[in-house]
Amino acid sequence: MIKAENYSLKEYNTFGFPAKANLFFEYDSVDQLKTFLRSAKGPFFHIGAGSNILFYKDFEGTVLHSAIGGIDVVKENSDYVLVRAGAGILMDDFVEYSVNHGYWGAENLSHIPGQVGASAVQNVGAYGVEAKDIIETVEAVDIRTLETRVFSNAECRFAYRFSAFKDEFKDRYAITHVTFRLGKKPNPILTNNALKQLFSDAKTLSLKEIRTAIVEIRDKKLPKVTELGSAGSFFKNPIVGKDVVDTLVKKYPSMPYFSAEKGFFKLSAGWLLETAGWRGYREGNVGVYDKHALILVHYGNGSGVEILSLVEKIQTSVMDKFGIGLEPEVIFV
Ligand code: EPU
Repeated sequence: MIKAENYSLKEYNTFGFPAKANLFFEYDSVDQLKTFLRSAKGPFFHIGAGSNILFYKDFEGTVLHSAIGGIDVVKENSDYVLVRAGAGILMDDFVEYSVNHGYWGAENLSHIPGQVGASAVQNVGAYGVEAKDIIETVEAVDIRTLETRVFSNAECRFAYRFSAFKDEFKDRYAITHVTFRLGKKPNPILTNNALKQLFSDAKTLSLKEIRTAIVEIRDKKLPKVTELGSAGSFFKNPIVGKDVVDTLVKKYPSMPYFSAEKGFFKLSAGWLLETAGWRGYREGNVGVYDKHALILVHYGNGSGVEILSLVEKIQTSVMDKFGIGLEPEVIFV
């Protein structure tokens, strides 16, 4: 447990920007959280591993951080297992556990940053899999009433990088545990182009082979936050209608796009940024990663405000060039 005033959040955001919280509270159990909340004053802001947050000023309130651990099988049959993980477990530790135990479903999320609790808030996703595909239930404590509630997958209203915890439940619940449904029979998901190409000849594939391949692909493209501050993809991939795709493809025949839900299409924000000339751009202490334009980076000694100014310029340029409004995936605090 940590309870400290005027607490530095520098180690709690992967950008590595300086910011402080009036009060910081890290808890190891549901009881500790409830005891604290009985006498605590808001506003509250709950963080995970800080891999999707941009702090651009101090937080005037209480920052909550979960250190609830534990990974346990709570139900099992010959087809699947239900595995309940504490919100404070690192998502990749959970993925590694699943791979080591022969449970299918989480492997494509290998090396995804963040904690288990945040994976449900953000519906994290990579290489053709989103957290929503494997989440069975989400347990959370109501910050106001201290009641524990169990949300079904449907109640979480998951969509691309979205859940009810970013909408009507925002700032209301502290997620304490997530239960995942994982398969016991081999079920490789190779819908992502990079994986499709890599494994086009493979007859059988093990969980470990998939995990190793994804780790290699990610390492080539994404900066290690221990070496260079970043928050992964900074913007969401825009979801647009067929008319927008048609107009853009006429002008940019090589533009990548993918079909999304309900007849819509997903554009690649990375491609839009690269084509608008942003890849490798640097301004002061911040910039656009040279191996992947969707990633904004902090070279050190900078502040969140510098990123805000760069974000505005990027959004304006992409709007001017393509008529597309880029929406940040990262949360501004
Ligand atoms: N592209 C470019 N230039 C770039 C970057 C990308 O032209 O600088 C093109 C690529 O060639 C490709 C397309 O854009 O045709 C898509 O790129 P990529 O496969 O790298 O995936 P992404 O759409 O940029 C998404 C997620 C990532 C996830 C990968 C892999 C979002 C916002 N991002 O990135 O998630 O790892 O797919 O599935 O959905 C994150 O959310 O933080 C994150 C890293």
